[in-house]
Amino acid sequence: MKPIRKAVFPVAGLGTRFLPATKAMPKEMLPVIDKPLIQYAVEEAVRSGITDLIFVTGRNKRAIEDHFDRIPELEAELDARGKDALLDCVRNILPSHVNCIYTRQPAPLGLGHAVLCAAPIVGNEPFAVLLADDLLDSDTPVTQQLIDVAHRHNGSVLAIHDVPVEHTNKYGIVAGQDIEPGCLQVERIVEKPAPAEAPSTLGVVGRYVLDSEIFECLRATQAGVGGEIQLTDGIERLMQRKSVFGHKYEGMRYDCGSKEGMFQAVMDFGRKYYFLV
Ligand code: G1P
Repeated sequence: MKPIRKAVFPVAGLGTRFLPATKAMPKEMLPVIDKPLIQYAVEEAVRSGITDLIFVTGRNKRAIEDHFDRIPELEAELDARGKDALLDCVRNILPSHVNCIYTRQPAPLGLGHAVLCAAPIVGNEPFAVLLADDLLDSDTPVTQQLIDVAHRHNGSVLAIHDVPVEHTNKYGIVAGQDIEPGCLQVERIVEKPAPAEAPSTLGVVGRYVLDSEIFECLRATQAGVGGEIQLTDGIERLMQRKSVFGHKYEGMRYDCGSKEGMFQAVMDFGRKYYFLV
């Protein structure tokens, strides 16, 4: 299997659950303490060996591009005031070997469509997808965990975890055969099924390693749940051609697309990394 160097960050979503905070600001720029969600996801990718960051953006998302760019005036000001730690922090948001590439999703047609917008940039190699709403705190970055499984079993890999049965309608839900502890070969995947229709309670969280054949599969995928082109439906097609695995990742997940998850993340990260109580 080819090395995995590219990661796609779909960041075109409207973020209506956080209005009014997201009226003029991308939801991916919401901070947990002092770092925006998108930076946590980017740091996870970079720690996992990713060198090309592909952002699929939309209207009102320019703050994300600015965030990963240099700001000479601010750097000069911090330098003049001797604020070396802050200067270091804004100057080194990204290591110098990492590239940022931006493309636009012209209309909000769904997560599958957003990933498809990255096809000309990804080309013919496996790649990662990270949804910044899902903040993952782990010793080994979850993207790295998926890459390890992808190489070991030569296939695509989805991060999965057990969810309460009444929450199956919030996730892509998978079922399949265990192939080793914590890892299964996916045989079924359904987007947001009602509890009675769910094939299991194993929900997909926003980390994927995908074979580039997913693009062909997504091109053939019609709008599904919510009238959107779903990544889950593309993965269901991919499973007919290539192996897809579910990996029960090690780590703690915060659903920062919800207010409860965001609150929990701020509390836990505050205690664990900032205030040491
Ligand atoms: C998306 C996917 C879903 C997945 C979830 C993980 O849904 O469509 O399959 O389980 O991300 O966070 P969303 O939360 O964007 O509605």
